Amino acid sequence: MSTTEQRVAIVTGAARGIGAATAVRLAAEGRAVAVLDLDEAACKDTVKKITEAGGKAVAIGCDVSDAEQVEAAVARVAAELGAPTVLVNNAGVLRDNLLFKMSETDWDTVMNVHLRGAFLMSRACQKHMVDAKFGRIVNLSSSSALGNRGQVNYSAAKAGLQGFTKTLAIELGKFGVTANAVAPGFIVTDMTAATAERVGMGFEEFQAAAATQIPVQRVGRPEDIANAIAFFTGEAAGFVSGQVMYVAGGPLN
Ligand SMILES: NC(=O)c1ccc[n+]([C@@H]2O[C@H](COP(=O)([O-])OP(=O)(O)OC[C@H]3O[C@@H](n4cnc5c(N)ncnc54)[C@H](O)[C@@H]3O)[C@@H](O)[C@H]2O)c1
Repeated sequence: MSTTEQRVAIVTGAARGIGAATAVRLAAEGRAVAVLDLDEAACKDTVKKITEAGGKAVAIGCDVSDAEQVEAAVARVAAELGAPTVLVNNAGVLRDNLLFKMSETDWDTVMNVHLRGAFLMSRACQKHMVDAKFGRIVNLSSSSALGNRGQVNYSAAKAGLQGFTKTLAIELGKFGVTANAVAPGFIVTDMTAATAERVGMGFEEFQAAAATQIPVQRVGRPEDIANAIAFFTGEAAGFVSGQVMYVAGGPLN
C-alpha cells in the first residue's frame, strides 16, 4: 500500500471527549474513520464534524465488551470503509469507590469495558493489520495506572492495559504492527465532570484545583491527547512500539 492510500481507523468511545477529538484529528490526517460508540445515534455529531470538514467517517454502534457485537462492527467497517489498520482503544467508564464499598459489578464493568474491550477489538482487527503488513494500535491508559484513591478497579485496568500493549508490540511487531499506550492526566471531558460531581465540587473549581498540581499549570484538553495518538498512529512512527506515553502536563512514573 502506498502511503498516499487512505488508511482506515477505528476509534472506540468516539461519540464524545477524547475519542471524538481523536476521530476528528485522524480524519484531518487523511484517515477514513469508524466512529464507534455504544449508541450509533450518539456518534452522529462526530461524524458530521468530520464530513463537514471534507473527511470520511461512519457511525458504528457497538458495545466493545461484547464479542459478537465487536466481530460484527469490525466486519462492517471492513465492508464499508476498507480493512481497519489503525485502532484506538479509547472507550472507557468509571465506577469509582473505596475498596470496602466497591461492588463486584463495579469491578467487572470496568474490567469488561477497558480490558476485555481492548482485547476483543484488537483481536478482531489484527487479521486485517497482519494481511496489510501494517497496523497501529493505541490503548488509552491513565495516570491512575500508578494508583489513585477510589479507583482500585480503574487503576488495575489501566495498568493492565500497559502490559497488554507491550505484549501486543512483541507479538505483532513482525507483521508491521506497532502498539503503544497513551496515559492521560486530567483532561476536561464528561468523565472528569462526573468525578467533580461525585466529590461535590463545581467543575470549574475542580479544574482550577487540579491545575495547581500540574507542572504546566493547566488541565488538559481532548486535543492534547489526540496529538499524542496522531503521532503513534502515523506512518513515521513504525519504530516506536510498546511504549507508554504519559500526557499529563508534567512527569509521572
Ligand atoms: N478524561 C480524563 O481525564 C482521562 C484521564 C485518563 C484516561 N482517560 C481515558 O480516556 C478514555 C476516554 O475518556 P473520556 O474522558 O473521553 O471519557 P468520556 O466518558 O467522555 O467518553 C467515553 C466514551 O466511551 C463510550 N463507552 C463507554 N463504554 C463503552 C462500551 N462498552 N462500548 C463502546 N463505547 C463505550 C461512552 O459512551 C463515551 O462516549 C477512557 O478510556 C478514559 O479512561 C481519561
